[in-house]
Amino acid sequence: MSKYITTPIYYVNGEAHIGHAYTTFIADTMARYERLKGEDTFFLTGTDEHGQKIEESAKKAGKSTKEFADAISATFKNLWDEFGISYDKFIRTTDEEHMRGVQKAFEVMYEKGDIYKDFYEGHYCVSCETFFPETQLVDGEFCPDCGRSTSVVKEESYFFKLSNYEDKLLKYYEEHPDFIMPKSRASEVVNFVKGGLRDLSVTRTSFSWGVKMPKSIGDDKHVMYVWLDALLNYITALGYGGNEEKMHYWPADVHFVGKDILRFHAIYWPAFLMSLDLPLPKHIGAHGWWTRDGEKMSKSKGNVVSPKEVADAYGVENLRYFMLREVPFGQDGDFSQRAFIDRINSELSNDLGNLLNRIIGMSGKYSDFVIDSKDVAKYHTKEIEAMNAVIDSLDGFMEKLQPHRYLEELWKLFSIGNGIIQESEPWAKMKNGQEEEALATVALVANILARAAVMLHPVMPNTTKIIADAMSFTIDTKSYEKLILNKELLDTFTIEKVPPLFPRVDEPLMPEAPKAEPNPPKEEKKEAKKEKATKEEDNLIEIGQFFETSLKVGTVVEAEEVPKSKKLLKLQVDLGEESPRQIVAGIKEFYTPQDLLNTQVCVVANLKPAKLMGMMSAGMLLAAKDEDGLCLIRPEKPKKAGTPIG
Ligand code: MSP
Repeated sequence: MSKYITTPIYYVNGEAHIGHAYTTFIADTMARYERLKGEDTFFLTGTDEHGQKIEESAKKAGKSTKEFADAISATFKNLWDEFGISYDKFIRTTDEEHMRGVQKAFEVMYEKGDIYKDFYEGHYCVSCETFFPETQLVDGEFCPDCGRSTSVVKEESYFFKLSNYEDKLLKYYEEHPDFIMPKSRASEVVNFVKGGLRDLSVTRTSFSWGVKMPKSIGDDKHVMYVWLDALLNYITALGYGGNEEKMHYWPADVHFVGKDILRFHAIYWPAFLMSLDLPLPKHIGAHGWWTRDGEKMSKSKGNVVSPKEVADAYGVENLRYFMLREVPFGQDGDFSQRAFIDRINSELSNDLGNLLNRIIGMSGKYSDFVIDSKDVAKYHTKEIEAMNAVIDSLDGFMEKLQPHRYLEELWKLFSIGNGIIQESEPWAKMKNGQEEEALATVALVANILARAAVMLHPVMPNTTKIIADAMSFTIDTKSYEKLILNKELLDTFTIEKVPPLFPRVDEPLMPEAPKAEPNPPKEEKKEAKKEKATKEEDNLIEIGQFFETSLKVGTVVEAEEVPKSKKLLKLQVDLGEESPRQIVAGIKEFYTPQDLLNTQVCVVANLKPAKLMGMMSAGMLLAAKDEDGLCLIRPEKPKKAGTPIG
């Protein structure tokens, strides 16, 4: 049987943030899990590149729309590559084959009589690419989702007969109670459909950055509505409307999406598929939203968590583990360094890392790093049963899209392992003539860790490979069948020493999020929403506010690379004070230490000191960054160290 797993395709109007990384990690984990079980799996991700919002962002950036989309799409692809995301295809909605597939689908729906031409008049939010009925607007004008001003748009449009699918959709939800997961999210969809579906405007004439109409229909002033274009990526990626050799993967097993786009996936998408006479996806898995330290993330607050920064500081696999373990799938989650560090120290370092260290230590001391499983069953039937019960429960959690429960349950293996060492004290048995039993306990624990590593592999592929290498076995479908399905023990095997996998973290490794402003009282919120759009453009400060920042000229007197960091350089900067300041700056990709030594820089001198990779940093360098890279802002002529700027 084959499996098909997808992420949403990401808009190319900004770089990836932690929410994008979360969906991608879950989908990647699921794809790896299926492959481990031996399933022929296709995993799709990509970028959503059409629409007015992107056209406008490109204009603001002073670039052609395609150039702009190319650049941002590449940042997503590069990040997923750097993170080792195991996608089989990275689709872009600007791909020729995709656009041909969309035109083909439009033709099929049109010929079926599901698409007709009419006029549309409504309140349109460019940012959300969505029309809203007047009843949903805030103060009759503002978008209920993002608070920005909507505009009244009257245009000729082609419409999809969504209203025809109301009953069919309701029947489908009823007959497939697992279609929307978690089930708690299904009622909002069902109620929305029960409230009545209006036909959906599926073309636009107000902008041109979109898939053109099929030639057979003509009418070139229309381009396709982005959501029609975007949703169809799930089948065009398999060749729909062209070379259809991968269409056997359809229907998708799971489309992973955030809760905000559930409606598009659970209502529009199934209706489009019904119109195309294609089977519907088996599950839509809708996850919650991430906040940072309890605050909604937003560019203007400057508190958006960059997955790259977190991964650089803490390791991408630790981040995968944290995100999947921290939040019950479907619920909102909070990213805080404190919670992350706690999980690294207690679950990864203490529970898992410790078990490996104990196995290395004991096997080295008692049996010259050779482990033999032959006597395990003789002494440890109870523990073997407990281990098997945990292993047997795991698949169900993945099936139900509950990675947090999967990991919680999996961690019981480490309790069993660490518990039995504590209880049976092999070191004492080695001394009092019960050597056979002591060695059997070490072998049991090593087998527990081996099985845990196999099951943890989809979440932490590289770390578990290191564990498997250290225990001289390979994690693949064969070992999955042997150790997990058939519950066999490893044959005689050797252990190799590895450095600690999860060094303890004592201090946050990234600067803390900027402090949020206190929440405005409720009545002010509505007003604030209304004003938000204008405020952003009109973001002026008083001169006094500017002088709150102390900017100074500094001379770099020492510069060195920070080992193991791709980004950081450690500098000593003379600011005319008693001793130079240490500043850790993320500029290694653009400057060598030699480029900086004895040169001058501009420094924010009254920034609260922060720790970066365990090193204090007391200041920030001024720099400008664009798509060509980063350059430091420096005084035009040499100035005395410490000269104020302003
Ligand atoms: N392009 C559409 C999806 C089309 S799929 C056919 C889109 N793109 S998006 O880039 O805006 O969002 C992609 C995903 O990121 C969505 O699933 C959204 O829920 C998710 N997230 C955006 N912000 C998020 C958080 N703060 N937390 C978790 N996920 C969030 O929508």
